[in-house]
Amino acid sequence: MSVARFFDEMSYGPAPESDAEARAWLARHVAGFGHFIGGQFVAPQNGGYFDTSDPAKDKPLARVAQGDAADIDAAVKAARAAQTGWAALPGHARARHLYALARAVQRHARLFAVVEALDNGKPIREARDIDVPLVARHFYHHAGWAQLQETEFADQMPVGVVGQIIPWNFPLLMLAWKVAPALALGNTVVLKPAEFTPLTALLFAEIAAAAGLPPGILNIVTGDGSTGAALVVHPGIDKIAFTGSTDVGRLIREQSAGSGKSLTLELGGKSPFIVFEDADIDAAIEGIVDGIWFNQGQVCCAGSRLLVQEGIAEPFLARLKDRMGKLRVGAPLDKSIDLGAIVAPVQLARIKELVAAGIADGADCYQPSLDLPQDGCFYPPTLLTGVETASRVAQEEIFGPVLVAMTFRTPDEAVMLANNSRFGLAASVWSETIGLALDIAPKLLAGVVWINGTNLFDAAVGFGGYRESGYGREGGREGAYEYLKPRAWAGRKQRKALPQPPQKETAAGTGLPSIDRTAKLFIAGKQVRPDGNYVRPVLAPDGRLLGEVGEGSRKDIRNAVAAARGADGWAKVSAHNRAQILYYLAENLSARTAEFADRIDAMTGCGAGEAQHEVEATINRLFSYGAWADKFEGSVHVPPIRGVALAMHEPIGVVGVACPDEAPLLSLISLVAPLIALGNRVVIVASERHPLSATDLYQIIETSDVPAGVINIVTGPRGELVKTLAQHDDVDALWVFATPEDATVAERLSIGNLKRIFTDYGFAIDWFDRAAAEGPIFLRQAVQVKNIWIPYGE
Ligand code: NAI
Repeated sequence: MSVARFFDEMSYGPAPESDAEARAWLARHVAGFGHFIGGQFVAPQNGGYFDTSDPAKDKPLARVAQGDAADIDAAVKAARAAQTGWAALPGHARARHLYALARAVQRHARLFAVVEALDNGKPIREARDIDVPLVARHFYHHAGWAQLQETEFADQMPVGVVGQIIPWNFPLLMLAWKVAPALALGNTVVLKPAEFTPLTALLFAEIAAAAGLPPGILNIVTGDGSTGAALVVHPGIDKIAFTGSTDVGRLIREQSAGSGKSLTLELGGKSPFIVFEDADIDAAIEGIVDGIWFNQGQVCCAGSRLLVQEGIAEPFLARLKDRMGKLRVGAPLDKSIDLGAIVAPVQLARIKELVAAGIADGADCYQPSLDLPQDGCFYPPTLLTGVETASRVAQEEIFGPVLVAMTFRTPDEAVMLANNSRFGLAASVWSETIGLALDIAPKLLAGVVWINGTNLFDAAVGFGGYRESGYGREGGREGAYEYLKPRAWAGRKQRKALPQPPQKETAAGTGLPSIDRTAKLFIAGKQVRPDGNYVRPVLAPDGRLLGEVGEGSRKDIRNAVAAARGADGWAKVSAHNRAQILYYLAENLSARTAEFADRIDAMTGCGAGEAQHEVEATINRLFSYGAWADKFEGSVHVPPIRGVALAMHEPIGVVGVACPDEAPLLSLISLVAPLIALGNRVVIVASERHPLSATDLYQIIETSDVPAGVINIVTGPRGELVKTLAQHDDVDALWVFATPEDATVAERLSIGNLKRIFTDYGFAIDWFDRAAAEGPIFLRQAVQVKNIWIPYGE
């Protein structure tokens, strides 16, 4: 054998990482891992144990406890017992604990990386260089938020006990993304790792205890979906944070509806990877390698849909195929492989099934001829071309090393194809023309956009989706808010129902009858009759008839939603102009203060002084949101790359708003003004009991230059109308400030398009209290944060 041969072949030899330390750790636990509850490992109460396997060898690695409702209950109790004390610690004390965890992760970095590679099948190179360093970074970053909590989040308090459910693709990293912010901000945690990959969570628990984390702060219950389900329905949980499949995310939304548990969902994706003809082709090809073959494509934000501009498609795909032939698939612990094993046989079967479906739908399948290991769950890098946009492989998350390629001609077509998905997690844009790339990024419906890059992550930069990719963000300041709740909302009481009084007969008068003013609905800038042509009476507290309003129906809601959808130009109007219109509304309302006050008094019987006060507070509130319109801006993150990430505040879109009965004018404006200030369009369901303050607004809106369709108002049976809004898949979010039943219905029925629900669960807000009823609490709910990563340099 001559050395020259190696120069000719330039092939890699095996470079195995030792698993000796990991095996020794596993051997110490050969009897099986219990759950980690109250600071120690405990045996499962009823359930047995199950095996977790090494997917590269298809051999069991360890025995792990199967948790059930009793184990979850014990863990929730331990977390609850520890929460008050943990939250009461000074931020600095919590910061020290998180700092200690970060240091411990770094000290045991190699062991974590090897255990992760064994349990998940991912290449050791990725576990070592990406997963584990990001885990440490997360704990450091959030140690910082703990340190700054008292000053930066003075108006917020911890949510309480948090149930967290994570998937198998980044077992330790997902733990860090969830546990670090929760603990930093004074919450305690019950975490359920994925059944395929529980080991690094258990190792983390052991190491956290050794690092001095007090008992009960972090509890880990292992098991399958049934264990997760027991956690979701446990009444002792204040929040659920879930990452996983969209189907399970939907189920969790449905099961937790009306429970008052706050919810964040980080779900699937089918992220576009857009290559323009002026892209740096070599860089884009390497980008694809990182975009779809990182972690065998088992990445929620994988760039799984390649959209390449037609002019370069042929040579580009040829070069891509050439590059695919150089990828190495092999043993995860070999330091020189590119792709490791698929997590489990069931996932491998799913990938094969989807690829077969793609071929059956007419796609061409390219797989380079590579040496795959004989045993274990391996799948080659795969390219599907000639794919129809509507086919399953173009629409469904494959969660494997399978890239689906399509072509486009113009930038507009690229955007259209990119957004032709029910998901909206991430997108990559490749072009050397910065103007083009920055023009495309805001048009993409995705929570993260990477320009000339892909799969970039940092603890300071929020991550999360639009549309059916879920809601909530992980990382950064926006991620911190997911683990906090407003102090000003503590101690609220259930709002009282306001039953309709019996109607008083009005004695027939002898004078002229007054001119009938039956209020209609307000849709697309016009006053329109309700579709059903019915009206309902509006009564004073003593039963006198004050007027009539239209009885809105499903059809009216649908018309209003269509009008709001059509008014999407509002999102592009400058913030200055939106502010001007809010001020104009205030000005026009001010001119009619007495009339509006009389009406409020007549409807509610609150007294003239109180009614006057309400109108003045409403004018004040419009001014506040006029002020906020150009001040609730995003931010510029400086992640550890050469470049920046722009955290943009984008409007959510069409938002339904169900208004309460108390302070009917002020509450309506308090809900609507933040939404329209930031570019959303609204469909308002007015107070059912006191709707005339809403219908009186029509003329104010008409004279204040509000474009048609931006504000739509429907009166009628609130519960029915909320239901229709919740079921409507073209409504992007729904704000429900009404009864607990309305909140439950809205949450339960929101699962079609996974619209975001913001609700007070029927706990009345004091609309006159600016701390509780105005400002960032509402503004944060009126936007979704898009992080646009812009690397720079040659
Ligand atoms: P999954 O959504 O079933 O599992 C994720 C986590 O949820 C696991 O811890 C699981 O035990 C738990 N879980 C399952 N059913 C539950 C329930 N009813 N209530 C509460 N928790 C429950 O995902 P799975 O079955 O492992 O993978 C299936 C597909 O989902 C994949 O092929 C992929 O397309 C997608 N997926 C997406 C992920 C993402 O990050 N977007 C992560 C994992 C899977």
